[in-house]
Amino acid sequence: MAKVDVLLGLQWGDEGKGKVVDVLSQDYDIVARFQGGANAGHTLEIDGDKHILHLIPSGIFHADKINIIGNGVVIDPFILRKEVISLRNKKIDASGNLYLSKKAHLILPTHRLLDAAYEFSKGKMKIGSTMKGIGPAYTDKTARNGLRLGEILYSGFYDRYTSLKEQHMRIISLLDWDYSDFLLDGIPFGEYESQWFESTEMLKHFHIIDSEHFIHKSLNENRTILAEGAQGTMLDVEFGTYPFVTSSSTVCAGVCTGLGIAPSRVGKVYGIVKAYCTRVGEGPFPTELNNATGDLMRDKGNEFGSTTGRPRRCGWLDLVALRYAIMLNGVTGLIMTKADVLSGFKSLKVCTRYRRNHEIIDVFPYGIQHEKFTPLYEELSGWEQDLSSIGSYGEAPQTFRDYVRFIEEEVRVPFVQISTGADRKQIFRTGRAS
Ligand code: GDP
Ligand code: IMO
Ligand code: MG
Repeated sequence: MAKVDVLLGLQWGDEGKGKVVDVLSQDYDIVARFQGGANAGHTLEIDGDKHILHLIPSGIFHADKINIIGNGVVIDPFILRKEVISLRNKKIDASGNLYLSKKAHLILPTHRLLDAAYEFSKGKMKIGSTMKGIGPAYTDKTARNGLRLGEILYSGFYDRYTSLKEQHMRIISLLDWDYSDFLLDGIPFGEYESQWFESTEMLKHFHIIDSEHFIHKSLNENRTILAEGAQGTMLDVEFGTYPFVTSSSTVCAGVCTGLGIAPSRVGKVYGIVKAYCTRVGEGPFPTELNNATGDLMRDKGNEFGSTTGRPRRCGWLDLVALRYAIMLNGVTGLIMTKADVLSGFKSLKVCTRYRRNHEIIDVFPYGIQHEKFTPLYEELSGWEQDLSSIGSYGEAPQTFRDYVRFIEEEVRVPFVQISTGADRKQIFRTGRAS
């Protein structure tokens, strides 16, 4: 029985999922996003050319692959159109191989206003949202107020839109937030709204499908499918560092609801791990380095958000969080990214436990945002050698392989591939099976 393999982030997002999906896509017929929206920023580098995808799956650069935006995703038509146009400018025509689920919910322009209004009203407790309207759109979905993409194909769409917009406007007025000068992707609300409608017209020319049926039919025809996660496990709405999380299920279970497949249809689960940790936005980050070492990681790793350009917070690898993420996702194989960024560090720290007062803990705790957890580190030797042009695991320095081995022994899952640069060519297998 054909299965859906899954690739997802095990940290706080930006692990390099887009790059790895692009590489793995060659082995699959279909790539499918199952959650999140344009809060994601997935970067691909192909022959020195950089592309950032927000909604479109990272298989789009392979013309023979089908790319699905599944029912669990929230779609802003304005942003999707922008992405389609930017691909077209690079001679990639997405209209043929991009399929959209009728059941994916729409992000309305007023969802974006609401996102900003809620952030404003939270003050110091703000999430650091990307302000793409994600939280309000998922709220409307679960509150049964939302509009799904399939609605654009039926008459009365404008009236349903207007009624929801009016409801949003009433909430915004209660939040006492003045949005008159607020810009959405650099443009005023009214203009954004009219372009939003134009975008829904354009989307009508795409394949708008019952994606759950399409996926089942494909599996029954033995076509291979890779599900592409967005965000990361520590941003999951259930298990992440709540409330500093996103509003979707970023874990493997989200694939079942976000694409409409049974748990028994999940195959391999690839977990992407950056060789260190980063986080963008607010919220707990136990191994964060607010010092020159953290700054060095940011500089060397070019750690600035792909969606908002914000500097990413940087810190050492956190195995307490990683073990938790592996447990929640049933990860069968790990893939390390940005290994090259750590070249030149004399020694490397890896957090294996936390200390709370006199207690040592090795499981990720509930009260992470209320209590002080001090990371306890093991220190390992670093390596000088530049890894970016290495073509095989055997060529890597022993101290790097010791770093990999140490993590594997701690988390008990093998690394199957190592990425050593942003380009799709900079990746090699370790020879271990997932
Ligand atoms: P995603 O959201 O998980 O897809 O990750 P992002 O694209 O937001 O951030 C990862 C960044 O690291 C991007 O700029 C990638 O081009 C880059 N990148 C991915 N893998 C590697 C790697 O192995 N080494 C280096 N130096 N950069 C990488
Ligand atoms: P990719 O797919 C990193 C963070 C935001 C904020 C919190 C909630 O590129 O890894 P939201 O916009 O969902 O209301 O933001 O989650 N966040 C991400 N951080 N990578 C992402 O996606 C993220 N998507 C959301 O910074 O802290
Ligand atoms: Mg990203």
